[in-house]
Amino acid sequence: MPAKKETESVSEEKKLTDVPGIGPGIAAKLEAAGVYDLMGLAVMSPPVLSEMAGVGEAVARKAIQSARSMMNLGFMSGEEFAKKREDILFITTGSENLDNLLGGKGVETRAITEAYGAFGSGKTQLALTLSVNVQRPKEQKGAEGKAVYIDTEGTFRPERIKQLAEGIGADSQKVLKNILVARAFNSDHQILLLDKVSELIKNGEPIKLMIIDSLTAHFRAEFAGRGQLADRQQKLNRYLHNLMKLAEQHNIAIFVTNQVMSNPAVMFGDPTTAIGGNILAHASTYRLYLRRGKAGSRVAKLIDSPNLPENECQFFLTEAGIRDEN
Ligand code: GTP
Ligand code: MG
Repeated sequence: MPAKKETESVSEEKKLTDVPGIGPGIAAKLEAAGVYDLMGLAVMSPPVLSEMAGVGEAVARKAIQSARSMMNLGFMSGEEFAKKREDILFITTGSENLDNLLGGKGVETRAITEAYGAFGSGKTQLALTLSVNVQRPKEQKGAEGKAVYIDTEGTFRPERIKQLAEGIGADSQKVLKNILVARAFNSDHQILLLDKVSELIKNGEPIKLMIIDSLTAHFRAEFAGRGQLADRQQKLNRYLHNLMKLAEQHNIAIFVTNQVMSNPAVMFGDPTTAIGGNILAHASTYRLYLRRGKAGSRVAKLIDSPNLPENECQFFLTEAGIRDEN
């Protein structure tokens, strides 16, 4: 435990500009591309850094090596590592198929799970269901915690929560009490709410799940022009970075929803892409693509997971919640 603390404080104190070869100009370019700290730099490859920062590959290689040695990367005892994994909690989706797709137990803490898909594909239903299920005892595939629900679209429905609670035989009044809802009116407000959540956790609220439905809607609306794409991406990057930090520091699960836009450049397969593109693909640990399937079902596909095979499954949105069968 002390060793971990040391690593954390070292990486928090040192800035990009502390790395030999990285001046303020290069640091600004890196930040614009979503690299804010030594960790971000340490995991890069020399050619990528070289192109991003406009420096030679030798300089890039040296900067990455310096960042790595400044962070003591790679040294965590097996015991420590196992302990960190042991802490992870899982929240069932209510569907065994969907839980299995996500590795067997549902959505996990210390990770961001993103669901993207067209309207009506089930993103909000999944978010609402998880806010109920996080409260279940651990033996019943819950995390015995509260949920924070950041609603950007005004689609949070207390009546629906009641139905979902009844669907698992829980006290609907209690379940509602354990979901802290905030409406985010614009992207700045949405960003500010993260500090509020940290504060709640520090004050002892046992929050184990944070929902953001939708992650991207405000960003998309406010940065609509073509010339604003880079600004939007930068702001979104920083936000995601902070989300990941929150998930990691407090051992909470983060579930975000994302709309799709049609992408005329895609000729084969499904011509839809999540808003936020690649940046989001890097930040989220699990990405689910949801779509309508046969006979009123929904299909979830796991995309780009680092440790699970790309796969898909079927589930249903029922009165009682998310289930394998209708
Ligand atoms: P957008 O936010 O519009 O992009 O869509 P979304 O992906 O969030 O869709 P959402 O999760 O709101 O899914 C809506 C669908 O959920 C509806 O078309 C219904 O099929 C299903 N649904 C919602 N409420 C109920 C309910 O009370 N009972 C049942 N059986 N299905 C419901
Ligand atoms: Mg929705």
